Amino acid sequence: MTRYADFHRRSITDREAFWAEQAALVDWHRPFDQVCDYSRPPMARWFAGGRLNLCHNAVDRHLAARADQNALIWVSTETGQERVYSFRELHAEVQRMAAILLGLGVRQGDRVLIYMPMIPEAAFAMLACARLGAIHSVVFGGFASGSLANRIDDAAPRVIVSADAGSRGGKVIPYKPLLDEAIRLATHKPSRVLMVDRGLAPAPAVAGRDEDYATQRAAHLDEAVPCVWVEATHPSYTLYTSGTTGKPKGVQRDTGGYAVALAASMKHIYQGNAGETYFSTSDIGWVVGHSYIVYGPLIAGMATLMYEGLPVRPDPGIWWQLVEKYKVTVMFTAPTAVRVLKKHDASYLHAHDLSSLRALFLAGEPLDEPTAQWIAGAIGKPVIDNYWQTETGWPILSIANGVEAAPSKFGSPGMAMYGYDVKLLDENTGAELTGANQKGVIAIEGPLPPGCMQTVWRDDARFVNTYWKTVPGRLIYSTFDWGVRDEDGYYYILGRTDDVINVAGHRLGTREIEEAIARHDAVAEAAVVGVADAVKGQVAVAFVVLKDPKHVGAASAAELEADIMKTVDQHLGSLARPARVRFVTALPKTRSGKLLRRAIQAVCERRDPGDLTTMEDPAALQQIRDHLSDA
Ligand code: PRX
Repeated sequence: MTRYADFHRRSITDREAFWAEQAALVDWHRPFDQVCDYSRPPMARWFAGGRLNLCHNAVDRHLAARADQNALIWVSTETGQERVYSFRELHAEVQRMAAILLGLGVRQGDRVLIYMPMIPEAAFAMLACARLGAIHSVVFGGFASGSLANRIDDAAPRVIVSADAGSRGGKVIPYKPLLDEAIRLATHKPSRVLMVDRGLAPAPAVAGRDEDYATQRAAHLDEAVPCVWVEATHPSYTLYTSGTTGKPKGVQRDTGGYAVALAASMKHIYQGNAGETYFSTSDIGWVVGHSYIVYGPLIAGMATLMYEGLPVRPDPGIWWQLVEKYKVTVMFTAPTAVRVLKKHDASYLHAHDLSSLRALFLAGEPLDEPTAQWIAGAIGKPVIDNYWQTETGWPILSIANGVEAAPSKFGSPGMAMYGYDVKLLDENTGAELTGANQKGVIAIEGPLPPGCMQTVWRDDARFVNTYWKTVPGRLIYSTFDWGVRDEDGYYYILGRTDDVINVAGHRLGTREIEEAIARHDAVAEAAVVGVADAVKGQVAVAFVVLKDPKHVGAASAAELEADIMKTVDQHLGSLARPARVRFVTALPKTRSGKLLRRAIQAVCERRDPGDLTTMEDPAALQQIRDHLSDA
């Protein structure tokens, strides 16, 4: 057996000893009594009885050996700013932020919602929450009032931390009006809002509610705020993600399992060492930002580079210029970003000294072979795909070169990572598919390893019912992804089994978009599907039935389309905006009224829609075909 195969086998069959070893990668205030309490499956309690603090592990523990080393490097090509914080400075800023939050009444277990652009204060806020044992809930800055209001109501935060504005491509995007509107829409009202004023979009403060960060910071400059030692099972954060229903789920993560999982992944998968620089181009509003902009690199004692801006502005060399300047050793991005770069000349990459870089990791969406080939050629470094989910917090499939070097195969994110007992299940019978090259649903036998979701925030039943299937006598977690495994144990991802789509690496629920479209006065109903796109992987396309079919004459179709897109922008945010809205008089449904999204998608992608015997009105699908021939 190879070294990695043995490593993986041991993580499953000798789970306790394996993870006890990994647990030594982080600092414990009190040792754990038990590695994994799985007495109430599928709920796993990792490192039960142990006490620790995530902020201590990310920041304080590095002060002894590396106080003056870079910890957080922030570059904004939007505002032309660049700031570098050493571990000592980061420690001071996090304590200031923690002192402010304490002053605003935040205590252990309270929720703090963070709605911020990519600025250092966002990371300070996350780490300050961790320091206090408060549970942060970061909402991606691209989400608009409706999405934000839903999350405010679900998380019920005591305090919201935000900023006046973000900026994208040189265009200021005010956040405050969206936040004010979201708070107005929400039933839950936060007691305080802490506003970082970047001077980009001045907005009036709400008296008695809004606090100015600079003023507060000045009042807490030298305050020491000790870490609160929390139980390993104490929730560190919730992060909302889309699924089949219109209501996003609050993925809840623990503290101890998460710290250990990230530390282990930095060693075995990403191979990032203390003193080096990690550059993840994601956003703190996504899971990659949580795990691999903020916590993972810092836990490993690395400097983390946080970038606000586009990959092609001021020119497509910007990321690579930063790799050179800060001697980045590990880089992490999404295939979409590479496909954007690929439209430009590779000389923009060659112009920079990339010798520090060891590998580029890609995740979040399928990596097509031309994109992988192009970037591997352009940078001359290994390109390593990794497959995971908001739910898991770290890779399910990849290559663990830190354990044993293994080749990558184009089109495959790799093999099952240690800790994950990955299975392929037959969709209909739930039976395990053990042969090579059989298509099934990618599943994980319980318990999920450390670092994965504990439950759905305040909804254990939803966690159990959504994700877990009973296969005679066993509980198995479904990823909702199709996959096949080859003879060598490499997996290939074949798309989602549910109504989730992936636009430019952003996970969106088609139901959420349909519900947002239905808010438009003229709309009776809508169907949204993901359609293959050369740059974004997928784009959302909407088919809409109007209340009054006469509402749209040929002349006003474009106007109505734009107006519906605006409704989506205002409610969910422009990231969810369909690329096209087409008007039809009926949607393809089964006789029992179920929308046939997969058939619509197949037609849009010019594939065979498959068995349509249950379809009520074949003319409805024909209308969709007709739209394609018009296009
Ligand atoms: O469908 C899979 C796809 O993205 C989904 C998870 O998205 P999210 O929760 O946003 O987490 C992203 C964390 C990297 C998965 O269910 N996906 C993610 N990575 C890959 C992928 N599809 C193919 N290849 C990947 N490497």
